[in-house]
Amino acid sequence: MAVAGLLASAVVVVGGPVAARSVSAGLAPTPPMGWNSWNRFGCDIGEQMVRETADAMVASGMRDAGYTYLNLDDCWMARGRDEQGRLVPDPVKFPNGLKPVVDYVHERGLKFGVYADAGSTTCAGYPGSLGHEQVDARSFAEWGVDYLKYDNCNNDGSPAAERYGKMGRALRESGRPVVFGICEWGHERPWEGWGRRVGGHLWRTTRDIADSWASWTALLDLQVGLEEHSGPNAWNDPDMLEVGNGGMAEHEDRAHFTMWALLNAPLIAGNDLRVMSRPTKDILLDRDVIAVNQDWGGQQGSRLRDDGEQEVWTKPMSDGSAAVVLLNRGLSDREIGITVEVIGLPSASKYRVFDLWTKQEEETADELHARVPAHSVVAYRVWLM
Ligand code: GLA
Repeated sequence: MAVAGLLASAVVVVGGPVAARSVSAGLAPTPPMGWNSWNRFGCDIGEQMVRETADAMVASGMRDAGYTYLNLDDCWMARGRDEQGRLVPDPVKFPNGLKPVVDYVHERGLKFGVYADAGSTTCAGYPGSLGHEQVDARSFAEWGVDYLKYDNCNNDGSPAAERYGKMGRALRESGRPVVFGICEWGHERPWEGWGRRVGGHLWRTTRDIADSWASWTALLDLQVGLEEHSGPNAWNDPDMLEVGNGGMAEHEDRAHFTMWALLNAPLIAGNDLRVMSRPTKDILLDRDVIAVNQDWGGQQGSRLRDDGEQEVWTKPMSDGSAAVVLLNRGLSDREIGITVEVIGLPSASKYRVFDLWTKQEEETADELHARVPAHSVVAYRVWLM
C-alpha cells in the first residue's frame, strides 16, 4: 500500500506536465460519435431541447450504437462575461445554467460538449476565449464538460498553433479529461503536426458542410491525400453529418453516411433526433457501417479509382477484411466493377462479400461489381475465405 502510494506520487512529481497531458491523451481511440446542435438548429437552442435530445439519444438506440457526445454549438452563451470574467450561459436559453443540463445528460450515460472560439468573439458574436483560456477551461471542468469544439472566427491573426495551444494547455491544467476538437477549417493544416501537438483529438479539414449532395461531395474530394495524417486519437474531420436534415434524398443521405464512415470521420449527427424518420434512423444506426468507422485499427479509407463520376473507395479493416464502396456521383445508373486483387486483399480462390446495406451475402472468385443508382453507393465488406 505504502509503496504503491509512494510510486503513484513519484509518477505525478516526475511526470509534471506530461502526467497532466495524459489525462486526455487516449480519449478518442476511435472517431468520436455523437450529436451537435448546429446543422439543424443553429442558434435556436435551449435547456428543454437538450433534455429531449438526450432522451431521444437513449430511446432511439443511438447511445447504445455508440453516439456518446451531446454537443452544444455556438450561441449557448450570454453576450457578456460576469464580473469575474467568466463565460455565462444565456439566461433565457439556459435559465438554470449549464450544470443541471450537463448532469441530466450524464445521468443518461452520455457525455456533454460545448463550443468556444479562439478569437475575440465566436462566429455568431458571443464572447471569444482568446486570452481567457484558463478561466474558461476551469468553467468547463466545473460544469462537467467532456468535449470542446474550438472555433476560429475573429482571431487576431496569430498562428493557430499558438492560439489552440493555449486552450489545449488550459484544458490539461483543468485536470478534466476533455476531447479537444479543433475547428480551424484546415487553414493552417493542423493534420501536419500542430493539431496533435496542442492535444487535439480531431481537426476540421475544410469549410462548413451544407445539406446538399454538392456540398458533401466537394468536401469528400478535399480528403484525398490526408489519409496518412489520421489515426487513433487524431482524426481528420470533414465536418458533421447532414443525414436526416431534409435537403437530400434517402439514398443521398445513405451515400454521405457511408463515405463519412469510410473516411473515419467523427460521426456527429446534426439532425433533430426527436423526430427522426424510419429511414434516417436506419441510416444512422446501421451497425455494419458504424463498425467500418469504428474499426480499432483506425486506418482512413482512400479513393482507389476515379473514373470521373464513378469512384471506388476502400478501407483496410483490422481483421484482414476490406470495406469497399462503389460511389456513383452521376445522374444515371452505372455499372461499377473492380477486381478483388486491386483492393489489396491477398489472393485467394474465394472471397466472402457482404453488402453493408442490403445485408446480402455472396461469394466471388475475383470480381466485385454492381449496378449503382444515381447519387448512390453500394458498400461491401470483403473477407478471404
Ligand atoms: C463555424 C463552424 C461551424 C459552426 C459555426 C457556428 O462556421 O465552422 O461548424 O460551429 O461556426 O457559428
